[in-house]
Amino acid sequence: MEISLNLLPESERRHSVLKGMDSLPFGKLRCDHMLVMDYANKEWSNPRIVPYGDFSVPPGAIALHYGQAIFEGAKAFRHEDGEIYTFRFEKNAERLNRSADIMCMPHVPVDMQVQGLMRLLDIEREWCPTIPESSLYIRPFLFATEDALGVKPSDKFTYCIMLSPSGPYYAGGFNKTVTLLITEQFHRATPGGTGAAKAAGNYAASLRAQLFAQSKGAAQVLYLDASNTYLEEVGAMNHFHVMRDGSVVIPEFTDTILQSITSESVLELLPNARQERVKLSDFVAMVKSGEITEAGGFGTAAVITPVGKYITDEGDSFTVGDGSIGPVTRKLYETYTGIQKGALPDTKGWLTKV
Ligand code: PLP
Ligand code: COI
Repeated sequence: MEISLNLLPESERRHSVLKGMDSLPFGKLRCDHMLVMDYANKEWSNPRIVPYGDFSVPPGAIALHYGQAIFEGAKAFRHEDGEIYTFRFEKNAERLNRSADIMCMPHVPVDMQVQGLMRLLDIEREWCPTIPESSLYIRPFLFATEDALGVKPSDKFTYCIMLSPSGPYYAGGFNKTVTLLITEQFHRATPGGTGAAKAAGNYAASLRAQLFAQSKGAAQVLYLDASNTYLEEVGAMNHFHVMRDGSVVIPEFTDTILQSITSESVLELLPNARQERVKLSDFVAMVKSGEITEAGGFGTAAVITPVGKYITDEGDSFTVGDGSIGPVTRKLYETYTGIQKGALPDTKGWLTKV
């Protein structure tokens, strides 16, 4: 794939803003350039790396009206040797295409996504931070640009990868547990819907529930299935809990849960990690009896986020263990981030050098 380049002169590049920073917000900073490609007449064309800036889209673009838009989230890390490594990006590229199937959008060939990203990262090396708990967050996205007001799949699309040097998703990072609201009032997804896609509309639909959770003092919602029987996932991460015997349990992937690459990685790493349908009533009883000792969330941005407390619609609240970060969660966090940052060996071949 021939990628055309329109790069800023060195004097206009802004990566020196990272110098002297000792923490980073999540997703606020922007790298100098982005990768863009267009789709029309059933083919991809004009892959280009250009300065980060506004798109020109018609006001009637289908993405703006009917939400035909999907995205991904991945990370790159700078290792001690100064080199940059991506973490399992092919998995994100494949998942983008699964989301595309659900949302009636064209595939973006995985090799095109990987090549485009590698080229972009090579140009943006200086933006990959070394600050603790930080990384270069990679945000690929695909959206419908055809100017049409009838409800139908678009026949024109734009694919873009933007980059953001970022710190932890939840302020406070790993060392601060979060509180989740378990609510029966809002649902993220229903069977036969788009819950398994990383579709923009799923996140728009979660905003009302998230504000409600925040008004109750929780960081996010732990969603239940549409019958309010089973645990599903959290707004921006999968859910997990740890049993007294140290085993890790993740709710089974269904068509209402995003198949998290972090969860898949944990399932590969830990022989005693498994997936099952988790009944809300069993979960609450086991947390209260101490059979469940730890809980948290898995996600690219969230990494491994410990949950200390749950609250319910009725105002009931219960802590997990003593409410602090447990040993299984801590060890898993150290192992997982150790592999990502190159402090531990990458025996699974998850890292790719840029
Ligand atoms: N579930 C939802 C709804 C998410 O937005 C995310 C974030 O990407 C995840 C789960 C975690 O998926 P992954 O580990 O692939 O980032
Ligand atoms: C990610 O973890 O990469 C995500 O896409 C979650 C996002 C909603 C911040």
